[in-house]
Amino acid sequence: MSEYKRYLITSALPYANGPVHIGHLAGVYVPADIYVRYLRMCGRDVFFVGGSDEHGVPITIQARKQNCSPQDIVDKYHNIIKDSFAEFGISFDVYSRTTSKIHYKTASEFFEKLYKEGKFIEKESEQYYDEEAGQFLADRYIVGTCPKCGAEGAYGDQCEKCGSTLSPDELLNPHSALSGNTPIKKRTKHWYLPLDQYEPWLKEWILESHKEWKPNVYGQCKSWIDGGLLPRAVSRDLDWGVPVPVEGSEGKVLYVWFDAPIGYISNTIEARPDDWELFWKSKDTKMVHFIGKDNIVFHCIVFPSMLKAYGDGYILPENVPANEFLNLEGDKISTSRNWAIWLHEYLRDFPGQQDLLRYALCANAPETKDNDFTWKDFQSRCNSELVAIYGNFVNRAIVLTHKYFGGIVPENLKPEAIDTETLAQIPIIKKNIQDYLENYKFREALKEAMNMARLGNKYLTDTEPWKVAKTDMERTASILNVSLKICANLALAFAPFIPFSTEKLLQMLSLPKELLLWDNIAKEDIILPGHKLGEAQLLFTKVEDEVIDAQLQRLENIRKENAAKVKDEEQKPLVLPQKEECTFDDFEKMDIRTATVLEAERVPKTDKLLKLTIDTGIDTRVIVSGIAEYYTPEQMVGKQICILANLAPRKIRGIESKGMILMAKEPDGKMRIVTPEERLANGANVG
Ligand code: MF3
Ligand code: ZN
Repeated sequence: MSEYKRYLITSALPYANGPVHIGHLAGVYVPADIYVRYLRMCGRDVFFVGGSDEHGVPITIQARKQNCSPQDIVDKYHNIIKDSFAEFGISFDVYSRTTSKIHYKTASEFFEKLYKEGKFIEKESEQYYDEEAGQFLADRYIVGTCPKCGAEGAYGDQCEKCGSTLSPDELLNPHSALSGNTPIKKRTKHWYLPLDQYEPWLKEWILESHKEWKPNVYGQCKSWIDGGLLPRAVSRDLDWGVPVPVEGSEGKVLYVWFDAPIGYISNTIEARPDDWELFWKSKDTKMVHFIGKDNIVFHCIVFPSMLKAYGDGYILPENVPANEFLNLEGDKISTSRNWAIWLHEYLRDFPGQQDLLRYALCANAPETKDNDFTWKDFQSRCNSELVAIYGNFVNRAIVLTHKYFGGIVPENLKPEAIDTETLAQIPIIKKNIQDYLENYKFREALKEAMNMARLGNKYLTDTEPWKVAKTDMERTASILNVSLKICANLALAFAPFIPFSTEKLLQMLSLPKELLLWDNIAKEDIILPGHKLGEAQLLFTKVEDEVIDAQLQRLENIRKENAAKVKDEEQKPLVLPQKEECTFDDFEKMDIRTATVLEAERVPKTDKLLKLTIDTGIDTRVIVSGIAEYYTPEQMVGKQICILANLAPRKIRGIESKGMILMAKEPDGKMRIVTPEERLANGANVG
């Protein structure tokens, strides 16, 4: 790692259309933060970039639903996300947003340079358009049936059920998310990044030169590249986003996946206006993107191709350690179904307990496969690992030192073999942790740190200072001297993972924060005889059953609410709500009569209309009716029907239609004529 002078660490910019949940944390922010804290402890020059991704269709859809502006939505969630990250100890060097001025400037300049240098293809194509809404249906504005798995409700860019990436044209039975209408096709112009041209280079750069990337990341890249890359549109017909900086492109904005990764650059510029290029354009900077698996193609293929196209010294990521997904109690986490543990709610329900969640999420991180978060697992990680191993060891060492030596670190007066053997483990564990961290194996790294606490516990159990103290105070001194050394090392080894507990432990040991350097682990003089300790406190407190039960109950309620909603939705199409009340007089105005169909024929050039000649008992007249989908002309002839006889005549397709046939209609479903139960004279009053 020493070949690099500095580190640029990015973590995916979360969409500001909802708060952050444990899935985001376990997949991206906790590992990124651990890595960054470790690098800083190693004395490295690090810049850690975060920020909110504030464009994209889900944000505008939500604004529409809530009857407010997209800016209102992103303002609300940006602040919730930013504050909760800060409280959780995600140690960003910058946390900004893609609606910032500097981002608009940076993103449009980026586009403009590529545009001027002819790096894009300009292409007209037919795209779905909602005539009623007067809008093109980009990405999530179009929904339909997934061609890959058959799920309903797949989006124009992705099926959430099977995870397939889709394009709007692949959707079966497409309809508008705005109006539910079947869209038409309309021509429109867009700019495309010709990824096919970058294919040979990507093959070389990823498939040949980055074989060390995680198998899930490498595998996804390989299958994209092997499948053949296509030009990718970098603009959209939308009114929310960074405007396309080309004359005559009103109503077009940069595609969210074009502008968002540029956000990493803009946010760096915002925080370091004078030396941002040091991070982005020096060969001796190591850039690492922390992301979730759904972001792989954008960070490994699209964004690097953008940077390559731009040139000007931009570096490429050295690694992209993407994680898989975290589920919650056996079900996929979902913002729309409220199936999540939200960070801001956790912080409210577990004040001051950031480290419990940081620990549980890292210990259970979905590094190689999807994983499940359960509250029971959280509880047992806290109680039988943090409390029972780490907390218990530290507590015994410090309390016994207060008891026998007035809180002063005693001299190692009577060393024995077990002491040296135990302490000899520390540099080994340190090396293991750092090897794992440098290879993005955070779970394993954390396990090693916990092994150091296990080592301490075993040492106390083997040496039993509370018994030795009855006969041999010199030996007791040695045992506690060694134990306190282990405590100090634990504070450092756990610091990248659970920094709040490290701070607390340093306080108990009365050691300064300046000690927090990776180099100090396993140092002989990490804590010296004669040093006065601070007060003993519990490092962790047990998570009680009631607390877990309350959380489980909350989830149970959400499960029930969701089940009720699904049931509602399934039933909704069957019955429309009742119309507004009408008076008897209103009803009396309608002259409804029985009648018989004499002749029937299709109205030329239409699919739905029949022209019916009927005997109403009053007269013989023509009614044009939209029933051709349900009845053939032959079926209609001779049928007795009911009509609204006094409806004002209307011209339909040039034919004067006098009245309306009464039909019973299932919403979205079939239609049938209403007919008297037994044949009556024509012209009988219905009422
Ligand atoms: N907002 C995206 C998501 O949540 C991530 C954007 S990462 C960036 O999936 F690089 F584009 F910023
Ligand atoms: Zn699917």
